[in-house]
Amino acid sequence: MINVGVLGATGAVGQRFVQLLADHPWFNLTTLTASGRSAGRRYADVVEWRLDAPFPDSFGDLVVAPTDPKALRDCDLVFSALPAEIAGDVEMACAAAGLGVCTNASSHRMDQNVPLVVPEVNPDHLGLIDLQRDRGDGGFIVTNPNCSTIIFTLALAPIAPFGLSDVRVATMQAVSGAGFAGVPAMAIYDNVIPFIGGEEEKMETETLKIMGTFDGASVTPAPLRVSASCHRVPVIDGHTMAIWADVTTPVDDVLAAYRSWTPPISGLPTQPDPVIRLFDQPNRPQPRLDRMHGRGMTVSVGRIRPGLRLIALGHNTIRGAAGASILNAELIVKNKYL
Ligand SMILES: NC(=O)c1ccc[n+]([C@@H]2O[C@H](COP(=O)([O-])OP(=O)(O)OC[C@H]3O[C@@H](n4cnc5c(N)ncnc54)[C@H](OP(=O)(O)O)[C@@H]3O)[C@@H](O)[C@H]2O)c1
Repeated sequence: MINVGVLGATGAVGQRFVQLLADHPWFNLTTLTASGRSAGRRYADVVEWRLDAPFPDSFGDLVVAPTDPKALRDCDLVFSALPAEIAGDVEMACAAAGLGVCTNASSHRMDQNVPLVVPEVNPDHLGLIDLQRDRGDGGFIVTNPNCSTIIFTLALAPIAPFGLSDVRVATMQAVSGAGFAGVPAMAIYDNVIPFIGGEEEKMETETLKIMGTFDGASVTPAPLRVSASCHRVPVIDGHTMAIWADVTTPVDDVLAAYRSWTPPISGLPTQPDPVIRLFDQPNRPQPRLDRMHGRGMTVSVGRIRPGLRLIALGHNTIRGAAGASILNAELIVKNKYL
């Protein structure tokens, strides 16, 4: 077993990590960290458990550690669910201390030597770890994209071979994507908020890196234009998005491409089967009905129409955050970087 810790274990994504790691076959969760407000106290006493899954009692007595590499000495790998404002420095310090870091935060996603990975889309980009290791401290940082970008790039993967040059997307994003303190009930109930700070820029830039080409030394961004419009809607979990791609291939061929698509990786415990679930019904996918397929790791796609127009949906704190990071860590282990 590989000893792991979770940074920011009391937050929306941190709790998902704890839930998903509680019975993991490869990872042994030893350390939970949070801010100075929570450090030094029992996890059960400081966490406001809000997931639709039972609290894992075995972690209740664990004393929350400060978010500091010195508190992570018995870990080989840490999962970061820290706010971006503090994640940048903390994650660098952890890597410099020899730890592997798998992070949800945006701080290092676009760094030249840091892989931005969706395992079923660009597993080869993990090769950037070798360039980070040239520093000599043994540690490294691997990022997963913004929650919407993960769902978006997975939905595009089967049609990428048709040639994409201009893709537009309008998202309908769940409130859990803003963290527990993110959106007040009075702001979102009976409402739609047509702005999520930084989200459109992340979808428009991260997608190009993920779909770009790695030549062993650097990633050349995909020659693709992405235009995004992001909206917060009164859904608890599950981001839905309408996608328009400049693909003129007949719809029957597109459907065949989705049905025959196989991911370039296999044998990882968190990888769902299928990775992409295709719906024929005209009123699917829907967040309440479809976010938990594949234990929250499957991306659902439907309403494929000429144009090319389609709808995609995924669970934002599982496939879009904690589950994505754990899948990255499993690929890191399988590829013997740890
Ligand atoms: N929510 C999503 O769907 C989603 C999806 C993809 C990526 N992300 C990214 O994941 C990260 C976490 O998001 P979240 O929604 O889980 O946030 P959150 O609910 O606000 O949780 C933040 C966590 O960070 C800890 N923290 C805050 N300030 C700290 C400090 N100064 N030092 C150490 N720890 C500190 C908090 O501990 P205390 O409880 O002690 O304050 C808490 O554990 C963010 O970078 C976010 O952008 C989120």
